[in-house]
Amino acid sequence: MERLPQIIAAHAGREGPLLPILHDVQAEYGHVSEEAIRMIAQALNLSRAEVQGVASFYHDFQAEVDPRPVLKLCRAEACQARGVEALAAALPENGRVKVETVYCLGLCSVGPNAMVGSKVHARLDAAKLGALVEALA
Ligand code: FES
Repeated sequence: MERLPQIIAAHAGREGPLLPILHDVQAEYGHVSEEAIRMIAQALNLSRAEVQGVASFYHDFQAEVDPRPVLKLCRAEACQARGVEALAAALPENGRVKVETVYCLGLCSVGPNAMVGSKVHARLDAAKLGALVEALA
């Protein structure tokens, strides 16, 4: 939690600082811990219940680090037009990989696309996506 005071300070002066703080904490630590909630509440002069309520309302914020590998599947318009919804529906059930939805990876002309770490996987079809998930699991 070393960087938490800096994160709070970076947003404290703006209007509606809670969500940007929670986003930065999630990005920095991979989760929003009880301790972070306590510190944020104190800094923003909110109750812990208020901060907890916001943190648990949004799916972006996790209470614990999720150790699973993440596959980010683009489901924005261009990838939808190229059939990503059918791919998503046919995704093999694999609880060992976390599939997140993202909206546009900036490579619309070669979709459907997904991203693992910093690598984009383009022109996906069911077989390629299945193999990607299997390789991650
Ligand atoms: Fe999927 Fe742009 S819509 S990469």
